[in-house]
Amino acid sequence: MTSAAGLRAANDARSQGDVAPNDLEAWWLPFTANRAFKRNPRMIARAKDMHYYTPDGRAVLDGVAGLWCCNAGHNRASIVAAIQAQAAELDFSPAFQFGHAGGFTLASRLAAMAPGDLDHAFFCNSGSEAVDTALKIALAYWNVRGEGGRTRLIGRERGYHGVGFGGISVGGIVTNRKFFGTLLAGVDHLPHTYSREHQAFTMGEPDWGAHLADDLERIVTLHDASTIAAVIVEPMAGSTGVLPPPKGYLQRLRQICDRHGILLIFDEVICGFGRLGHAFAAERYGVVPDMITFAKAVNSGTVPMGGVLVSSRIYDAFMKGPERTIELFHGYTYSAHPLACAAALATLDVYRDEDLFGRAKRLEPVFAEALMSLRGLPNVLDIRTLGLVGAIDLASRPDAAGARAFEAMDRAFQDLGLMIRITGETIAVTPPLIISEDQIGELVDKLGRVIRAVA
Ligand SMILES: Cc1ncc(COP(=O)(O)O)c(C=O)c1O
Repeated sequence: MTSAAGLRAANDARSQGDVAPNDLEAWWLPFTANRAFKRNPRMIARAKDMHYYTPDGRAVLDGVAGLWCCNAGHNRASIVAAIQAQAAELDFSPAFQFGHAGGFTLASRLAAMAPGDLDHAFFCNSGSEAVDTALKIALAYWNVRGEGGRTRLIGRERGYHGVGFGGISVGGIVTNRKFFGTLLAGVDHLPHTYSREHQAFTMGEPDWGAHLADDLERIVTLHDASTIAAVIVEPMAGSTGVLPPPKGYLQRLRQICDRHGILLIFDEVICGFGRLGHAFAAERYGVVPDMITFAKAVNSGTVPMGGVLVSSRIYDAFMKGPERTIELFHGYTYSAHPLACAAALATLDVYRDEDLFGRAKRLEPVFAEALMSLRGLPNVLDIRTLGLVGAIDLASRPDAAGARAFEAMDRAFQDLGLMIRITGETIAVTPPLIISEDQIGELVDKLGRVIRAVA
């Protein structure tokens, strides 16, 4: 185990000249129990393919593709080389009024991968920015169409759409919302789609729950469609603890949006790039939304990047008026950063050349069966699987919500060499798409051991 004192000593030894030595205090880690971490740090030094390595050289099987993003595995040679070459060739290029080849090539490739007429890409640097961008495009679209009364945004309970004010407003995870004031006005939420009573231990899409999409009709009746700009959902809700969409649910949502002229946004920040066995979940479900947000695995998590795929109908609505005029007053200094684009192009090559989306699809039943073998272990209340995603709900200890899963995450890393992700009392596993069947066995074996250890 790496102690905080040991780390400080190592950092001291590495510090040079008048550079202050690092210690663990200064970095306020995001979405982290900082005091527990700093008492017992989980440090990572390097990575390769399916593994992380700790500073003392222990291999840790990556059960979560970093943070749902390293779908091609870690430190892939061709992606590393592309980033290095790009850094040497063009380090930065402004995207406001200028362009570079990487941005255009990447946009074309993403448009070719996307379903329907999602033929345009707007780039940003994260999933949160992608969501806020999509919401702003939706609002601006109705403005340029002359229907500026359509301002209402509809999200879903338990949805996670990042941490910007737009994203937490349409998001539905209470801890991400309750500390941050009044949020955006004019937001409503659909009910979430999970029912343990009707869905427990389902592999793939549950049979029960399509009718929950009909709640959109209730919201339309309440506010009138002429006030509603867009609905945003994750096709599979990820960060809340993995909620696969009920069979027929997304199709029904699309129909209701069409009936009332409401834009439908799929937040595919997790679902995109092979996680569900397809380039996008939209393809898996045969539903074409009006926008798709993406980030994370677009370049296998190597360089911050996000974006929105936008339909031609929306894009064309903006391309009016004098040619000199900026059509959308929105963008980021690092939109389509050359390093991020180069990394993405090399990553898309890896996905294609190694057929990683097809691989995820082929492995889905193997992964699902393996995870379901944990049914019956102590405190396991439910297991859900979809694509290369799995979740296990554990029973809470009395008066200690979240403590069991937290201990499982810590022990998995420290004692068993496995990285997992937790949300409340849910363990999520979402390995890189290069995982082998043997490694699926290892992952599930270690999960079983850790679940027994925290019984
Ligand atoms: C569906 C979804 N949207 C948005 C985000 C936010 O992405 P980021 O953390 O890159 O801002 C996430 C992150 O997990 C996500 O899962």
